[in-house]
Amino acid sequence: MQKRKITEKVYWLGAVDWDRRLFDSLIPLPDGTTYNAYLIAGRDKTALLDTVDPAMVDSLMAQLEGVPKIDFIVSQHAEQDHSGTIPLVLQKYHGAKVVCTPKAKGMLVDLLKLPEDLIVTVADGETLSLGDKTLRFIHTPWVHWPETMVTYLEEDRILFSCDFYGSHIATTDLFVTDQGRVHEAAKRYFAEIMMPFRNVIEKNIEKLKDLPIQTIAPSHGQIYDRPSWILAAYREWVLGPPRNLVVLPYVSMHASTRQMVDHLLAALVDNGVRVEPFNLVVTDIGKLAMALVDAATLVVGTPTVLAGPHPLAAYAAFLANALRPRVKFLSIVGSYGWGGRTVETLAGMIPNLKVEVLTPVVCKGLPQAETLAALRALAATIAAKHREQGFV
Ligand code: FEO
Repeated sequence: MQKRKITEKVYWLGAVDWDRRLFDSLIPLPDGTTYNAYLIAGRDKTALLDTVDPAMVDSLMAQLEGVPKIDFIVSQHAEQDHSGTIPLVLQKYHGAKVVCTPKAKGMLVDLLKLPEDLIVTVADGETLSLGDKTLRFIHTPWVHWPETMVTYLEEDRILFSCDFYGSHIATTDLFVTDQGRVHEAAKRYFAEIMMPFRNVIEKNIEKLKDLPIQTIAPSHGQIYDRPSWILAAYREWVLGPPRNLVVLPYVSMHASTRQMVDHLLAALVDNGVRVEPFNLVVTDIGKLAMALVDAATLVVGTPTVLAGPHPLAAYAAFLANALRPRVKFLSIVGSYGWGGRTVETLAGMIPNLKVEVLTPVVCKGLPQAETLAALRALAATIAAKHREQGFV
């Protein structure tokens, strides 16, 4: 695929990774991804914004065949899916400088062994003229590493946002064509890597709010030529209240916990609460992360195994603790055979969640009438709490 024109002297370069199914050996990519780089050929100087994952280097280097010079390689984010090919681009374009934030400089040296004298750091708000095109660099830390920045092309009102507003979708469509599909992919991406830094993301959104943005060009997924909806979606995910929703990850060994989960789910629905259950044996953790963006309550269902929670339930609790969703209430349900410290162990795994813990429901063996009544009481309590908070 050759480079593709976005507007006058501004081009998409990069690669479509149709087959990638896992990122960071952790995050599922059900729809593959793209690595977007951008070329801005100004009257006097030419800049390349980001590169591609090293696995896709051939694609980028082929697109650069007809590009006679690059003066600046802007590295908006030091993670290797964007920075990993910078050393090869530097080999091709002698004299090119790498432009990045001061924090990124050390990371690029550490991760890629870039020579320090080829790196130029830019302050927050600093501009770089390419002649008839002006790049403005805006530091946006923790999207999702500490060194991240975005670049605003003033003349064309394009925000190059790197991971910010990105989505993992492999496609040949340069611009967003299916808003619903991109909304889901962008939400999944936000949940997996940005939700833990919601407070800083809020400041970054505030920082960008007065920019007249006509186009958002992220480094994964499609370009937004009508970006108002994705800007609004991010505001909702970061600033909005949680929804009247219970997320219910669970695992069951001999159906006792499963019966409890089913009963709780039905009682919650009867009380007007939405529920998203996730059987952890088969679940896609990206979908679980996405549901946590909206959830007001998290209930973990687990049997007791080897005197503690099932390892899959422990993993779900660990993940929720790391992602720091805006949940307000938490409970645990499950069954045990003879004893253990399941509730204490799980509760100790979520120190990052600032939640009110609702009385767990645990039982020995199959749930009997008393346990089922306790589950209905838990559902009624959750519904009342959601109503009190005005969650809809
Ligand atoms: Fe797409 Fe944080 O790298």
